[in-house]
Amino acid sequence: MLLMKDILDEKDKRLREKSLEVKFPLSKKDKDTVHDMIEFLTNSQIPRLAEEYDLRPGMGLAAIQLGIKKRYFVVVHEYDEGLFDNYVIFNPKLVSNSEEIIYVAEGEGCLSVNREVEGIVPRYARVTVEGYDEDGNKIRIRAREELAIAFQHELDHLDGILFTDKIDKKNPYKNQDKYREI
Ligand code: NI
Repeated sequence: MLLMKDILDEKDKRLREKSLEVKFPLSKKDKDTVHDMIEFLTNSQIPRLAEEYDLRPGMGLAAIQLGIKKRYFVVVHEYDEGLFDNYVIFNPKLVSNSEEIIYVAEGEGCLSVNREVEGIVPRYARVTVEGYDEDGNKIRIRAREELAIAFQHELDHLDGILFTDKIDKKNPYKNQDKYREI
């Protein structure tokens, strides 16, 4: 079972590396890792379990956050109270996006960033991501709002980018009035 200590902190240089394409079929280890990531993210969003295992709530994890330099991520989205959808995408690519830009009012977060960060992170309101499922079948997922932000955040991890990079250093709230808050 994964715990907070298994997740790399932002100071770790591996988080700055570009992850590599995944080859199919998946190894047993990658399958087990996906299972562990889903379990961690789900538990982290259930207050009783988050407290029991000392987990910070998070909806997404990229493999590199566990030190695995491969292009995949998991997002566990609470679409209704206590109800979760799991998204597991290998070799994901952003294939289309809205013009509209949004940001999370309370600020974006990351399980690798263990401090308060001020500012807004502009993200597309809607995206389409293509990639592969665990069996190597091609998949295409449309996402909007919070889920779209999660996908963009995790895609960035695969290229060594953290959300803090996307906040203007001089003016963390730059262009805020041009974007829609969610
Ligand atoms: Ni993150």
